[in-house]
Amino acid sequence: MKIVVVGTGYVGLVTGTCLAEVGIDVVCVDVDTKKIENLKQGILPIYEPGLDKLVHRNYDKGRLKFSTNLTESIKGADVAFIAVGTPPGEDGSADLQYVLTVARQIGENMNDYGVIITKSTVPVGTAAKVKNAIQNALDARGVNIEYDVASNPEFLKEGAAVNDFMKPDRIVVGIESERARLVLEKLYHPFVLNGHPVIFMDIASAEMTKYAANAMLATKISFMNDIANLCEVMGADVNLVRKGIGSDPRIGNKFIYPGIGYGGSCFPKDVKALVRTARENGYEMRILQSVEDVNEDQKHVLFNKVKKKFGNLSGKKFAMWGLSFKPNTDDMREAPSLVIIENLLAEGATVCAYDPVAKEEAKHMIGDKIEYAVDEYDALRDADALLVVTEWSEFKAPDFSEVKARLKNNLIFDGRNIFDRAEMERQGIEYHSIGIKS
Ligand code: UGA
Repeated sequence: MKIVVVGTGYVGLVTGTCLAEVGIDVVCVDVDTKKIENLKQGILPIYEPGLDKLVHRNYDKGRLKFSTNLTESIKGADVAFIAVGTPPGEDGSADLQYVLTVARQIGENMNDYGVIITKSTVPVGTAAKVKNAIQNALDARGVNIEYDVASNPEFLKEGAAVNDFMKPDRIVVGIESERARLVLEKLYHPFVLNGHPVIFMDIASAEMTKYAANAMLATKISFMNDIANLCEVMGADVNLVRKGIGSDPRIGNKFIYPGIGYGGSCFPKDVKALVRTARENGYEMRILQSVEDVNEDQKHVLFNKVKKKFGNLSGKKFAMWGLSFKPNTDDMREAPSLVIIENLLAEGATVCAYDPVAKEEAKHMIGDKIEYAVDEYDALRDADALLVVTEWSEFKAPDFSEVKARLKNNLIFDGRNIFDRAEMERQGIEYHSIGIKS
């Protein structure tokens, strides 16, 4: 089998690399020359645990190739994945221009039967547009080449992407022909040897499944954040409530951790896009609109606690542990840290932050408006308080005597509930967390 993956972003690079890992020939194509040159030298555009090792190994074995030339790469390909970006437009809807440009180019250059698969998260109806773009290009060439389009949404999590791809819970594939089904069955056979299913369905349902999955997960988080805020008002402890409800298997104990709002490149974009798509089609997603509203407010919750404690923040200095939207990634997109920093700076405070990997990404977005520490203890120097913003493992059991020695006040605002309240009391640290009255 020969596979082409167009787009070497998060989804495309992981997909291409993991397919190569099971012995398939893969060409990853991108228009970004610099990115492709870097990949050839083993320099990855993203930080993702385990991915660099797989890229190096498969590149060295010659199974994984990188190219800027889609025209040549597509020739003889059995499967082409479209994994280019679908950035949100101003109105929140997914911008499909890159997806459709690639579809057209595939139609202009394919020379034999192939399955063209959308892997990017795209609204219901996109596969039909992809088909249209391919067909128009084939018609313009005056050739009659058979092909199928399919939808194969990706469910991998940043920070665990390689494992999620290699050992998926499920693979969802939307198809419209038996021929495409056989190709996809063969392609994914090595990944479902553990007994997890490839779920075949029609294309519209596959496209909707992706949004429904992310929207459901985002709903769980906003729901718990809402409950956490109410717990604070009512004098309950959300950590206990979480354990209490999570032990019911119908609810489950995953994805019900309250915090400072979800971020990243997926939930915020997909929730907005689904609300928008529904509205365009005359339906109001009332629950999802609230999920989005609660999330926007939640990003301010930690700052509000700081403000309530100090009143005037002018001239105050805050240590921040974590910048990325979640641990094990350098991704800063829609990170709650950005909102918290903006709020603090607007009030005349200064911030010294430490993140194990996101410093460079953060610098791209916020530049020198904050100070960057060399480690977590360095960030604490003369700070009025510590704010825990991302739950990196290495922050979870610090040397508290060192923390206290460096901070001006024994004061921690924990946006991720990583510390034990009783331990904080023993340490004589004033501790503000999410979902319990301080
Ligand atoms: C998410 C989905 O989990 C993946 O299944 C999906 O493939 C991906 O989006 C995508 O559409 O590409 P990801 O954005 O990498 O993956 O991150 P998650 O681990 O899902 O976390 C998202 C956000 O939710 C983070 O900001 C995290 O801090 C927050 N979160 C998560 C909570 O606040 N509480 C929780 O209990 C869980």
